[in-house]
Amino acid sequence: MRVFLNGELVEREQALVPVDDRGFLFGDGVYEVVRAVDGSLYEAERHWRRLARSLDGTEITPPAGLDAAALDALAQQLLDENGLAAGDALVYLQITRGAAPRTHHFPPATTRPTVFASAGPFSPPHALRARGASAITHPDLRWARCDLKTVNLLPNVLAKQHAVAAGADEAVLVRDGMVTEGSSTNVFAVIAGELRTHPASNHILPGVTRDVVIELAGQLGVPVRELPVPVEELREATELFLTSTTNDVMPVVRVDGRPVGSGEPGPVAGRLYAALAERMPARTAV
Ligand SMILES: Cc1ncc(COP(=O)(O)O)c(C=O)c1O
Repeated sequence: MRVFLNGELVEREQALVPVDDRGFLFGDGVYEVVRAVDGSLYEAERHWRRLARSLDGTEITPPAGLDAAALDALAQQLLDENGLAAGDALVYLQITRGAAPRTHHFPPATTRPTVFASAGPFSPPHALRARGASAITHPDLRWARCDLKTVNLLPNVLAKQHAVAAGADEAVLVRDGMVTEGSSTNVFAVIAGELRTHPASNHILPGVTRDVVIELAGQLGVPVRELPVPVEELREATELFLTSTTNDVMPVVRVDGRPVGSGEPGPVAGRLYAALAERMPARTAV
């Protein structure tokens, strides 16, 4: 596979980042993951808008000219170069503050940010969606700028590992008794006929899929309230589901070993997934 590193397309094995890179030393960088279906990027504009927001929030100045059009072209080039013009693929993009002698404060303004991008094939998790995922609840130990998509993901990594070690698929994070989001997903619950999800505050990543799902719920006449769900209320949920670029809409049928609702994937998640798949550049639904 050929990847993009600092202005050049190179073989993946040849793409090397110096040990002084602040992404390596401090997790001082931001990233995006964008879906492509049959060579077309899905919701790229929203991803690039969020990237700009993450760069702004972390005070990283991207290289001149790296605007949405340039990012689209770069993603497209990576898809074409790697034979991904058909089928499902993911494009990964990361920008760090660059390589410089280690200081906690910012390096000199002349330091060039590191830009890395790659594309690879992707298999949507249709089988898991059909049977429903399982989750554990887990303390949300992250910082107070979860709205920025940074590569500083250690609390997410630990939470997901604890889920996997417990035989579950995702960790549903809980802060001050309230469900915030998943370790790499947003969380929705159906409670008393209403779709509930944490508001887009500094405590969650404003997921692109989350935004689309809220819009689609409105179009389908499903009432939505952006109000945090207390962890005890999960017991009253008739449905629970996760959203993300790689999961689309993923029903959760067990939390901490207890069934959610009927213990089967529910109708609201099913309708929202169908509506989401309908919007994709090509149908990937099965
Ligand atoms: C912490 C977190 N929340 C939510 C999401 C879902 O965001 P999106 O729908 O934009 O993929 C992600 C995606 O990686 C994430 O890491």
